[in-house]
Amino acid sequence: MHRRDFLLSSIGLAAAGAAGLARAADPPGLRILVLGGTRFIGPHIAEYARARGHTLTFFNRGRTNPGVLPEVERIQGDRNGELGGLAGRRWDAVIDNSGYVPRLVRLSAELLRPNVPHYLFVSSVSVYAGFARPNDEDSPVGRLADESVEKVDGETFGPLKALSENAVRAVYGPAGTTVIRPGLIVGPGDNTDRFTYWPARAARGGEFAAPGGASDPVQVIDARDLSAFIVRAVEQRTMGTFNLLSPPGRFTIGEVVTESVSAAVRIADPSPPPRATWIPAEFLAQQKIAPWSDMPVWVPATGDEAAFAQTSAARALQAGLSIRPLSETVADTLSWHLGRPVTERQALKAGLPPEREVALLEAWRGRAAAG
Ligand SMILES: NC(=O)c1ccc[n+]([C@@H]2O[C@H](COP(=O)([O-])OP(=O)(O)OC[C@H]3O[C@@H](n4cnc5c(N)ncnc54)[C@H](OP(=O)(O)O)[C@@H]3O)[C@@H](O)[C@H]2O)c1
Repeated sequence: MHRRDFLLSSIGLAAAGAAGLARAADPPGLRILVLGGTRFIGPHIAEYARARGHTLTFFNRGRTNPGVLPEVERIQGDRNGELGGLAGRRWDAVIDNSGYVPRLVRLSAELLRPNVPHYLFVSSVSVYAGFARPNDEDSPVGRLADESVEKVDGETFGPLKALSENAVRAVYGPAGTTVIRPGLIVGPGDNTDRFTYWPARAARGGEFAAPGGASDPVQVIDARDLSAFIVRAVEQRTMGTFNLLSPPGRFTIGEVVTESVSAAVRIADPSPPPRATWIPAEFLAQQKIAPWSDMPVWVPATGDEAAFAQTSAARALQAGLSIRPLSETVADTLSWHLGRPVTERQALKAGLPPEREVALLEAWRGRAAAG
């Protein structure tokens, strides 16, 4: 599966972690509308914001995790034309987590503009036209031949996000717009199972396949670090466009795997203990093992994606982004994962299914034995 297809996959959520770094807001008591709010990042944003004294309202259809954070006010509606519940209400800011189609993003921006002075739009690093060279916020974004397309798929996701950003900018202008472009969002509650695959796999124990070289760089953003940045951007009215992910070179796939093994031993104590076998990128390609989907989080630094893990985070760091240690993200993700219903734990939506992993390890041993 292509990386961009994978950005679209989604399902349920369990309890989000507490906003451990939260402290009293200054000034306290903002009213914040969240378009969405109940899948993955919404509950983290809400918990962090509430711990800082803010009041949240979720606007959604009431389908996704309807029971999460019941104490948060709900307005039921649909971005696709059923926005009536928002009319005439006032908030200090809106956080748009669920915008994918520029026409619909424009609808909500135009409706809210008279009563809500700040629009924060959650976009994606998938907006960038390519990853052959390192991107920063001024790099060119992908474009669609037909900008009226509304079908969101692996090809259109990034360019539609870029057009959606522009829809907000057109309505709110630079004095009222914040655009957040996260990389891979990870941590407790992740509905995509990508990062979760590694601690979950280590917790099953035994030999497992690890991709490429341990020093291959990766970039992620813990949903709680993302949430803290977003809420503080609302408090401080930080406008502009920000990539949100760990800085290039901070984390490697080796660290993800090593931390997963140590968290698994500490928290799940599987028998036999987990042990990674590193398999080079070329052999994985021969065996049709795909980066990112079969081997989540990891993309080899070659060809068109040579700079996939080199996206600049400098602007967000300058604006106060804090990145927690990977060990903490891994351990918290594993603890959350182990508390999920067994059906979710046994049917991860990312990573190598057990039978393919067995075949891969056998093929690798066979090749190694053949010299
Ligand atoms: N996961 C990643 O690695 C990653 C990376 C980069 C960027 N992003 C971006 O981060 C955001 C992820 O957000 P999330 O899903 O975790 O956010 P969330 O705010 O936790 O949940 C999404 C919400 O949108 C609501 N929603 C969906 N369709 C709707 C509609 N037509 N009208 C009204 N509400 C609707 C859902 O509720 P109902 O279904 O009940 O309506 C749900 O509450 C997305 O914008 C995504 O593109 C994600």
